Formats: sequence, structure tokens, C-alpha cells
Amino acid sequence: MALPLPPIAQPEDPEEIPEIFQPGDLAELPMEATPPLPVALHPAAAPKLRRVLSPETVGLPESCPGPEDLRLRDGHGRALTDLRLSVTDRCNYRCVYCRTGSEGAQFTELPMAHYLRMLRIFVSLGVEKVRLTGGEPLLRHGLLDLIREITRLRPAFSSAPLDIAITSNGHLLAAMAKDLKRAGLNRITVSMDAVDPETFSRITRIPNSLERVRDGIRAAQDAGLGPVKVNCVLLRGFNDSQIEAFAEFSRREQVIVRFIEFMPLEEGRSWSPQMVVPMREILTRLSAVRPLVALPANHASETARRFTFDDGVGEIGIIAPVSEAFCGQCSRVRITSDGKLRTCLFSQSDHDLIGLMLRGATDDEMISWIRRVVQRKEARHHIGEPGFLKPSRSMVHIGG
Ligand code: 5AD
Ligand code: SF4
Repeated sequence: MALPLPPIAQPEDPEEIPEIFQPGDLAELPMEATPPLPVALHPAAAPKLRRVLSPETVGLPESCPGPEDLRLRDGHGRALTDLRLSVTDRCNYRCVYCRTGSEGAQFTELPMAHYLRMLRIFVSLGVEKVRLTGGEPLLRHGLLDLIREITRLRPAFSSAPLDIAITSNGHLLAAMAKDLKRAGLNRITVSMDAVDPETFSRITRIPNSLERVRDGIRAAQDAGLGPVKVNCVLLRGFNDSQIEAFAEFSRREQVIVRFIEFMPLEEGRSWSPQMVVPMREILTRLSAVRPLVALPANHASETARRFTFDDGVGEIGIIAPVSEAFCGQCSRVRITSDGKLRTCLFSQSDHDLIGLMLRGATDDEMISWIRRVVQRKEARHHIGEPGFLKPSRSMVHIGG
């Protein structure tokens, strides 16, 4: 039975997208000049919270569940439970939809101990999922040690262990999968934008890259990191011919294939609404392979609409930030490789967390600063709307 297709909200007139930003609701916070505020404590919770937040115990096994109202929330009431940490903006691929082809890191990388302190603090505030990203995170020396340290953190408001994931292009994965698992990694997402080797190399601009990535995915499954999620950003005219082949790939390799609508986050200026392959079209094409069956969301802030086929083999996710924005459920904050806090992929500025830390801020001072910054987390993105301005950084320098 064919699925009823959801309506797609397309930009009214895609041609009318000026490049110039109209200053509006994304005003920058005057964080630098503002003295730290004391942490607002619920009187009944104060003793317990102090224990949770003290430098020795923040996020460490001794910390115990605290009252819900101390969770980190933004000004729209969204609990921020999902932290993405970029450990490098270097990448060994130069995917056409992401990078211009320039080499090397553009932003500084921090010592792992600095990232770890930031993570400890965020975990003490309610972060339950940490995703390591890049650039390509497997390029970063010391990654396994960082993962081992992260496994020692315990979420402050949940008895479940911290969920530790990574997003990688998979090029170095075959050799590292077992060690990643042993270090304590729970899950991996591999970016792979074609199943046809030539198409893939045309996108990554690296010869024979598909074989490496496919071996990496298999090694990750063998190491117990499965089911592996495979992210495919669809670009009209580049890889939209691959949709059906990805359906077969999901079924054959037992991976979760997730199609992502292309967002204007590239280093160059290649994005246009016409390049986006919308969810409705993807669903129509997949339904012609075999009838699709919708699966329930795993949790409220899940970004992917999940499907399997009528025989239950294979899993497809569709992430439609452009045609079906999911900002209302956003639970994410990001730390860039150079230690800046970003409240949205599309933020016009980032916030100098590392600067504050290196000036000697205590954990409590950092916490009050973080609470104030995330209060102003953007309500949503404005892709496709008049006045949209590209974010202050591209995806490779933010972390996916
Ligand atoms: N639009 C959508 N997804 C993107 N990614 C990178 N750039 C974009 C973009 N402009 C994806 C990568 C990776 C994840 C971190 O985000 O392919 O899977
Ligand atoms: Fe979250 Fe910003 Fe992405 Fe919306 S655009 S889902 S608010 S990160």
C-alpha cells in the first residue's frame, strides 16, 4: 500500500532569495562585556546541585539525578540534551556540496582536555547525547582517549548512560572501528552520498573512495557499532539518481540510510532551492521500489522520518530541514573545534566559550554564561525566506 505523502511547504518564489541579511531577530549577545551571573538555584535543590556542579564531581559517576527545572533550556522552553562537538575542521574529502577544495584547518584545534571540561559542564546541565564531529573527526589525534574519558561522564538528569556517537566520512574507519568500540563509542553515522563508485568519487573528489567507506561501514558493523546510519545529502543533478540504489544498499548491508535535504551551509555559494530534492519526491521514488511502511519516531526530537519496506527489510530515514523544518523540537547545541558555542547551524555569530574558560572562569561562572547564551537560541532557521543570510560558518567549520 502506498503511503499518503505529507504536504511540502516550498518557498513561495525560490528566485526571490536575496543574499543580503536584514538584521532582525538574530542580534548578537554582548557576552564578552557581561559579568557572570550567579547560578539561579532552586532553594530546595541547592545542596544537591552544588554537589553535582563541584569541579570534582561535575558529570562524574558520583553525580546523581537532579530536579528537572535545573535542566539547560533555551528561551523557547526546549531542553538542550544533544551536544555536537567538533574536534577538527580538517577533512580528507572535499565534497562538492560542502567544501571549495581548500586544504588544512581554518580554525584552531583545542587540546582534548579543554573539550572534556566543556563536555563535563554540559553533561552536568542535562546533555544526554554527545556527537563528535568535524571536519573529519577520525583525523584527530587523541580521539580514542577523548572517547574513553567521555564514557566516564554520567548524565545529571537521567539514569541512562551518556550516548556517545560520531559522524565520520568513513575513509579511516576500517582500521579504527574496533578501537572506537573498545574506547566506548556507542554509535556511528557515516556520510556517503552515492553507491555508484564514479558518482561517489565525483562528489568526494578522492579516487576509489567508495570502496574505503564501504569497508569502513562493514568493519563498524562487525565491531558492534551497528546498525550504522548512512547519511546521504541529495543534490539534484549530482546524486539524485542514487535513491533507488540506496534503498537496495540499506536492505543488503543492513544499514539505516538517511536522505538529507541539502541546506545552504556550504563553503562556496552553490545552494539554490532547485538543488534540494524534497522529501515528497524521495518518498515517491522509494515507494516505486517497494511499498513503504512508516516507523514510529525513536524520541520526540528525532529529526528523521523513519520508514521500512513492506517486508520489513531495510530502514530509511528522511531528514527534511528545508521542506519540513523540525526546529520546534530542536534539542541541539554545538561546540566548534576552536571552542565556540553555537546555538544553531544558521547562527550569525558564535559565542566565545573557550575565551571565557581561558580567562579562568570557574565551572559555575561558565554555567551561568552558558545558560544566558542558550536563552537566545534561535527559534528556527529561515532557509528559503526573503532576507535569509548564510550562517557565519559553513558546515565543515561548525560540525554536523
Ligand atoms: N546540507 C545538508 N547536510 C549536510 N551535510 C554537510 N553539509 C550539508 C549541507 N549543506 C551533512 C554531511 C554529514 C552531516 C554532518 O551533515 O553529509 O553527513
Ligand atoms: Fe536546530 Fe537551528 Fe537546525 Fe533548526 S536550524 S534544527 S534550530 S540547529
